Amino acid sequence: MNMEKALAEKLIDMAAAQLAYSYAPYSHFKVGAALLTREGKIYTGCNIENAAYTPTNCAERTAFFKAVSEGERSFRAICVVGGKDGILTEYAAPCGVCRQVMMEFCHPDEFQIILATGREHYETFTLRQLLPLGFGPDNLA
Ligand code: THU
Repeated sequence: MNMEKALAEKLIDMAAAQLAYSYAPYSHFKVGAALLTREGKIYTGCNIENAAYTPTNCAERTAFFKAVSEGERSFRAICVVGGKDGILTEYAAPCGVCRQVMMEFCHPDEFQIILATGREHYETFTLRQLLPLGFGPDNLA
């Protein structure tokens, strides 16, 4: 179901606000995310880098892990914004690992991924579009 513009704009604003907290001293690529539960609660996240590189956590996973660790299991949408030095010139699409984490908790045809460079420029994709033939919990049922 298509999301109303006001809610999409709220998620964009909240994701963009996270850029201030992004810890990206190595790539300088700042990312913010805002994750909407089916009940309407919003969990935010930023990317958190590490001197050993591989422990780096993307903004999307920060938001998901915050939410799941507080008991959430049911999600409607996530908005992601990002760019070098926090300047939003193009879409920051979720990496493969983050898409897989979404696959764990979200229905691929229903979960919406909003990529934005600003309030007036965004596009919405389903998880299925970004992760076709994804492997998820249903495959192990
Ligand atoms: N990053 C995210 O947080 N989310 C994305 O969608 C793409 C990549 C982060 C990881 C790393 O801190 C930086 O962006 C450069 O890869």
